[in-house]
Amino acid sequence: MNKQFGHFDDSAREYVITRPDTPWPWINYLGTEDFFSLVSNTAGGYCFCKDAKFRRILRYRYNGVPADAGGRYFYIKDANGVWNPGWKPCKTPLDHYECRHGMGYTSITGERNGLLANLLLFVPPGRRCEVHRLRLTNRGWTQKSFQVYSFLEWCLWNASTDMENFQRNLSTGEVEVEPDALYHKTEYRERRNHYAFYGVNRPFDGFDTDRETFLGLYNGFEAPQQVLSGTSGNSLAHGWSPVASQRFDLSLAPGESTELIFVLGYVENPQDKKFSAPGVINKAPAREMMAAFATPAQVEAAFQDLKSFWDGLLGRFTLSSSIPELDRTVNVWNQYQCMITFFMSRSASYFESGIGRGMGFRDSNQDLAGIVHLIPERARQRILDIAATQFPDGGCYHQYQPLTKRGNNDIGGGFNDDPLWLLFGTVTYIRETGDFAILQEPVPFDNRPGTEVSLMEHLKISFKHVTDHLGPHGLPLIGRADWNDCLNLNCFSWNPDESFQTTENKSEGSKAESLMIAGLFVAEGKDFAELLAHPAVSADPAYIGEVRAAVAAMEEAVKRDGWDGEWFLRAYDYDGRKIGSHENEEGQIFIESQGWCTMARIGAEEGLCDKALDATVERLECTHGIVLNTPAYTRYFPEYGEISSYPQGYKENAGIFCHNNPWVIIGEAMAGRAADAWRHYRKITPAFVKDQQLRKVEPYVFCQMVAGKDAARPGEGKNSWLTGTAAWTWKAVSEALLGIKPQLDGLLVEPCLPAEVGTYKVHRRFREAEYELTIRLTGKGGSRFIPYQPGRQVLELEF
Ligand code: GLC
Ligand code: GLC
Repeated sequence: MNKQFGHFDDSAREYVITRPDTPWPWINYLGTEDFFSLVSNTAGGYCFCKDAKFRRILRYRYNGVPADAGGRYFYIKDANGVWNPGWKPCKTPLDHYECRHGMGYTSITGERNGLLANLLLFVPPGRRCEVHRLRLTNRGWTQKSFQVYSFLEWCLWNASTDMENFQRNLSTGEVEVEPDALYHKTEYRERRNHYAFYGVNRPFDGFDTDRETFLGLYNGFEAPQQVLSGTSGNSLAHGWSPVASQRFDLSLAPGESTELIFVLGYVENPQDKKFSAPGVINKAPAREMMAAFATPAQVEAAFQDLKSFWDGLLGRFTLSSSIPELDRTVNVWNQYQCMITFFMSRSASYFESGIGRGMGFRDSNQDLAGIVHLIPERARQRILDIAATQFPDGGCYHQYQPLTKRGNNDIGGGFNDDPLWLLFGTVTYIRETGDFAILQEPVPFDNRPGTEVSLMEHLKISFKHVTDHLGPHGLPLIGRADWNDCLNLNCFSWNPDESFQTTENKSEGSKAESLMIAGLFVAEGKDFAELLAHPAVSADPAYIGEVRAAVAAMEEAVKRDGWDGEWFLRAYDYDGRKIGSHENEEGQIFIESQGWCTMARIGAEEGLCDKALDATVERLECTHGIVLNTPAYTRYFPEYGEISSYPQGYKENAGIFCHNNPWVIIGEAMAGRAADAWRHYRKITPAFVKDQQLRKVEPYVFCQMVAGKDAARPGEGKNSWLTGTAAWTWKAVSEALLGIKPQLDGLLVEPCLPAEVGTYKVHRRFREAEYELTIRLTGKGGSRFIPYQPGRQVLELEF
């Protein structure tokens, strides 16, 4: 058995890390509204308010050496040296270490020579701050005198220029100091109306706000000069790098405990209340925040509020089965990851720097499928925000900035799958909520006031955008790319300095068509037609007829020109040559079109779906999941773009791109192939993955990508946390496998699991109804529709 680094504690909804030297920093997220933090198992990471790029509070060193440099560090200096409760940065060996990542909080415990230090970090609901509760206990037989230093480093707000513009940055830093709080106010003198602070519930015995005074210019975080000498510089930062460090000289009798409560907060002041005296920041809101967490009882109450928040959410869908890995995934970690992914989109993780991408049009529409049963109001708002970045012709910005909600001009549009995801998101939302009224909401184009039309009109032009852009085979033109950002068929880039996504898109005159979009169009088109025909919408029958006819024509086109004999083709290239065909030397079969065309059930009666699924199992499935394509591209093909830029087995070039595995799982379930669906699901689901060293990243969350069979280390995970995998595996497990499928007028129960899974119970909140379902799998299959009706319903069903 390989080295284990931790285990699940199901009843506490925690993952317990038992040694600090994990194969990669294993992180958690704090925050539920607009103040968010990343915290690793050694207290590394950073926080921001609203926008990880523009309102960054703590500085972080990406890809640092050693890994994970920067965070909220506490140094304890006693007679035997200096150590940290979270092991890093000093790495002094601890007698005991444990990190518990829970729902919106992290608790790190370290013990050395009879001094026990427990650090609890969380963001209280409704507050823009992190609370750090440091509890120290003398477990020895003698009095202990020691010093505690806090330490964190401020980011000068814009996380991008903070790393680049030193000719300016090193002169702008400003702070203020009070006996129990350190304030970071860089640029507050001019246009900013926000500052940050680090306060504590008792006066400190010394402090530093200038990094070099605290650390020493040639020392790292592991050897701060002031800590080594047991002093503080009481330094005031003027430019250079402002930090916050407070020193406490403490003494504890045997058995005695004390708690220090720190508040790392962010404050925005109205323009006319920025200053309390010339040049002096108005600290009243900071004082109010500190006062709210001044006592252990207040902290405990806020912590209980946070627990209730998550209890409430996770109580909406619960599973009790005979399989603990399945239960913990469904009840806790998958839903939690869906929430985090929804909050963060693809902005801030240990693989996303927080300064890169904004919110993706397609990503956000998919992410909401993972949270709509938990926070439907926020899904609603998200749909309206996304739709407002659409253009009048149905195309849309590929990304938008969360702070401004404006489309991102750097990347622009032209990804031809994007519009269809608005249909997906909206249908998903209405099936969960029954809120047909959203269709009448006025939504502008490109955020331009005065251009509003109803959301329904946005859906219609999304649909039309596809039928307006059909290629020579009657299949959808791909544009810059479809879901696979790296299949750039109109790019032909030979310049390493240009991005595949934004370089000139030669789609004028291109014949490049996508079978993935074709499948997506058929699947979403059928759902759209059903929505249009619903009595609450009752669209013009002529229009419904047009939609159905367009869907039928697409199915015909796929069967005629999108079938390779044993599986669905992936695309046609710029010149109209096949991609994903047995005729190709490399890249003969791709997962995306197998997933979408089988979910759309194209050619099911003729046996095409079963054949495509068989081919997927035979050719694409490997030990750790289903790879994206095979054989992997072994050289660069300019006519295919970024996909062939990756080494074999990684990312879009034959990696296990977990996001698309659930499409096959759902396709398998729709074909009634329970054993295959269940096996695919277990391969990518972290709770079933046993080799923690090989997987490397967090064992409690899905990865975007696991190295595929052609890679150097098949099974190694990357890009954990922020991925469409979260929402799609949630859909796959809750709907396709467990069989709880929200419909416009009720729940359809239609499980697809092998009979050996036995009997399971699902508690499902659906609108104003509570369903208590006991589902007994006997192998006979079938489905049962339960019309929506408020109240509690207890049902025992056999399938
Ligand atoms: C990333 C992107 C997503 C894309 C996928 C495949 O996950 O965020 O938009 O669909 O890669 O390229
Ligand atoms: C890169 C990544 C891809 C991602 C895209 C987003 O191409 O490989 O996964 O979707 O960037 O811009």
